[in-house]
Amino acid sequence: MSQSFDAKRVTAPDIAKRKGGAPVMALTAYHAHTARIVDPHVDIMLVGDSLGMVMHGYETTVPVPLDLMIMHAQAVVRGSSKALVVVDMPFGSYEESPQIAFRNAARVLKETGCGAIKLEGGVHMADTIRYLTSRGVPVMSHIGLTPQAVNVIGSFQPQGRHRSEWAAFEADAKAVADAGAFAVVIEALAELLAARITKQISIPTIGIGASAECDGQILVLEDMLGLSPRVPKFVKEYAQLGGAIEAAVKAYSSEVRTRAFPSDANTYPMFEDDDEATKKSKMTGS
Ligand code: KIV
Repeated sequence: MSQSFDAKRVTAPDIAKRKGGAPVMALTAYHAHTARIVDPHVDIMLVGDSLGMVMHGYETTVPVPLDLMIMHAQAVVRGSSKALVVVDMPFGSYEESPQIAFRNAARVLKETGCGAIKLEGGVHMADTIRYLTSRGVPVMSHIGLTPQAVNVIGSFQPQGRHRSEWAAFEADAKAVADAGAFAVVIEALAELLAARITKQISIPTIGIGASAECDGQILVLEDMLGLSPRVPKFVKEYAQLGGAIEAAVKAYSSEVRTRAFPSDANTYPMFEDDDEATKKSKMTGS
């Protein structure tokens, strides 16, 4: 898939310049139809690997393959024209070496036409972030709770709620900023610490379960629409689409059973000039 550079889209440097300014507005999107709805209202659309849990029913994001991320990202790029599309590098596609990270990130940029990638990790990913950004790959970092590390952490619990843990998270934030990330997602981190990090570093912080003082906010679209069965405390549900969809499916099912659907409004009558011929053929059975 070849994509020309789209100057109308928000770019990674545009986001970097938003440090301390108007809040950066971000949501996830996994498909063309939701991208179309979200695009005019956000600066960033993240094709998050949360799609593995939300869309594909996995227990964690660990099993998500790179090809699946690419397929969803292509749909989101096709369905949008304004927001910066950022694509998550899934577990196993970037940790091994900066070179492997580059090879896979280049595939994501080339095959989807997105504007940046996101990867999880702080201090230990700094060399990779430096390698990628110096070779034309804009990187959004992700620190705090890093869901791809769930098997090491042991749960999706919020992080940094003891002051003794703060130094490590502060070092992560500083390392990714120094390495050239254009922004950093801070997930499920103690509020005070997220606000403190936001003041300490020079790139925008995008909070999710973090702090209103972050330079921007992101939520998983399906979580805030009430479509996800289990949502963390940090999610605010702005709609209850799960219930609305179920009500619609029930109504459809009842109308099909009673043959109320499809009605004349939903079917195609013959053209008038063909009516006589139709009647005749019905009578003669031809
Ligand atoms: O995968 C995802 O949707 C994310 C957000 C939670 C930031 O990384």
